[in-house]
Amino acid sequence: MGVDETVHQIAAWVVEAERTLVFTGAGISTESGIPDFRGPNGLWKKVDPKLFTIQNYVADPEIRKRSWRARLDSEMFDAEPNTGHVAIARLEALGVAPIVVTQNIDGLHQAAGSTDVIEVHGSVREFVCLDCAARGPIEDALERVRGGEADPACPDCGGILKTATISFGQNLETDVIERAFAEAEKSDLCIAAGSSLSVTPAAHIPRIVGERGRLVIVNAEPTDLDFMAAALVSAQTGTFLPALADAVEALLAERV
Ligand code: APR
Ligand code: ZN
Repeated sequence: MGVDETVHQIAAWVVEAERTLVFTGAGISTESGIPDFRGPNGLWKKVDPKLFTIQNYVADPEIRKRSWRARLDSEMFDAEPNTGHVAIARLEALGVAPIVVTQNIDGLHQAAGSTDVIEVHGSVREFVCLDCAARGPIEDALERVRGGEADPACPDCGGILKTATISFGQNLETDVIERAFAEAEKSDLCIAAGSSLSVTPAAHIPRIVGERGRLVIVNAEPTDLDFMAAALVSAQTGTFLPALADAVEALLAERV
């Protein structure tokens, strides 16, 4: 099937589906300048993921200081949503894809206009205290770092602060992942975009929907769930997803 036919086939599935769940990974944010993890220029190809364990972060103040310095320069805080994020928000506005489950921590889906985003790996937009669970806007903590506090302590209890993301060694927030599973159990179509689908439990979300209905994978490289995809689209998410949103809009207009 040519790309055009593929777009129209998937658009027809989106329009006829009971409920479509969009599942995204770091690949959807690379076109916003944020590197992914396992792609050709992935982060895990440059640094050892073991550095990013919660155990190391809690044990070693030097790792915390290095993390806060890196956050000051992180491309995440200046990144803008790209055409892929905007297309997903359009699918929600068209009434065909109400929910986004993302592994990303950059907040770009919300910035693009998606209103119901389940962030299974948390978000860099907030800080959290590892001792008393106090939370606040990450900007407040970054301001303190810019002001000279190399490893800002919790304003309430003096405990260790980190971004409200899930690091290796940390459990996912139970209510968040349970909601994501509940949404998967209600969906009969999953569009999985920009993910190697290699990390669980997150990757169980597209698998559950694929087993109940259909899984469509949009990714630049092969993924761990290609074997069960109803359609495999090897394309840039920032190119394919807008074409999909256009095709869905055209199909819906025909029905009016
Ligand atoms: N268009 C399509 N695919 C892309 C694009 C793009 N513009 N850019 C990158 N990709 C693909 C890469 O080829 C890769 O297969 O996106 C995929 C991203 O996969 P990963 O880097 O493994 O990212 P992700 O699946 O989100 O990782 C899951 O692993 O390290 C943890 O917590 C981290 O949430 C992350 C989780
Ligand atoms: Zn605290």
